[in-house]
Amino acid sequence: MTSLLVTNIGELTTHGPQGTVQHASLVIDEGRVAWVGGASHQPPTDARLDVDGRAVIPGFVDSHAHLVFAGSRAVEFAARMAGEPYTGGGIRTTVAATRAASDETLRANVDRLVAEAGRQGTTTIEIKSGYGLTVEDEARSLRIAVEFSPETTFLGAHVVPAGTDPDDYVRLVCGDMLTAARPYARWADVFCERGAFDLDQSREILRAGKAAGLGARVHANQLTAGGGVQLAVELDAASADHCTHLSGADIKALAGSPTVATLLPGAEFSTRSPYPDARALLDAGVTVALATDCNPGSSYTTSMPFCIALAVREMRMTPAEALWSATLGGARALRRDDIGHLSVGARADLTVLDAPSFLHLAYRPGVPLVHTVLRNGEPLCTP
Ligand code: NIG
Ligand code: FE
Repeated sequence: MTSLLVTNIGELTTHGPQGTVQHASLVIDEGRVAWVGGASHQPPTDARLDVDGRAVIPGFVDSHAHLVFAGSRAVEFAARMAGEPYTGGGIRTTVAATRAASDETLRANVDRLVAEAGRQGTTTIEIKSGYGLTVEDEARSLRIAVEFSPETTFLGAHVVPAGTDPDDYVRLVCGDMLTAARPYARWADVFCERGAFDLDQSREILRAGKAAGLGARVHANQLTAGGGVQLAVELDAASADHCTHLSGADIKALAGSPTVATLLPGAEFSTRSPYPDARALLDAGVTVALATDCNPGSSYTTSMPFCIALAVREMRMTPAEALWSATLGGARALRRDDIGHLSVGARADLTVLDAPSFLHLAYRPGVPLVHTVLRNGEPLCTP
């Protein structure tokens, strides 16, 4: 692999010791950032990429997405926009469509969504199962997911399938389903919510996952202020996701722990729900990540720029906080230290914006601002 100089960067956000550098250059060697500095000091390289004064940011780390599914729930979305509440009940519609789909259909859908995310600057994406809910269908979902990302999550505990006894199902999830999913998963997740899995069931499932070597993540406090967040902290989960309904005690628990609060404003947007209180979390010192929650029911978007715009406009995050949360925050939520920043030694995952500053991500909502994306120093998307 040759060394590449990315030069004439108008504004470089590193999220590392160098902070933000104006008139910057960056050298990539062997897929890693090898040097960062002012354009006047740039070292010689084999190749160069002149970005003509554009802004460069770390590639987005989308730490929460449900990409293995078939079918559409556009009609459910329209009903919601006409006043129907979101209860998570539509998950079963997607389960039926997913079970009926061939491997090729599922794989093509994941491929399409991962490519769509890449075109919007995402260089790492977590992918959950959770629309199979049988031993075979969960294993197959993860087998397909792992073809696209190392960040794969077993979400057999998404809902209890229709016609199944909840206790029997929890036993299955902790037993044969976990065994079948384990070779293809890094994480285990539970939808800890009224109507899905209660606290005791969630604890049992996540503990079984941990015993099998899977790190914990929790869908917590999405629809009600239950105990999901505090369970996530108790189990040292990497992330408590959604955090839409939080008590002061939840915020305090998160603030005193390494568990990241992953906010998913696309879900609030698409279910017309109140947004989480990002300011209270940030002001308490909680590490906050932003992710898309891409799924066919509650948030059918792969766009991290859209989530950044929502976070700034609707959750009162500053543009700088939102960018951090969408990159390094996502990396923290995946317990990764090689991505989400552009310090020397980091993976050369970066996005060139067709804008002079990252501020434009929120300032110009809905505008396709991604110009070029490099992953591991290699072109993922070019103009
Ligand atoms: O994160 N809340 C649970 N799971 C998804 C929604 C899934 C669906 O509605 O299909 C979520 O919002
Ligand atoms: Fe989700």
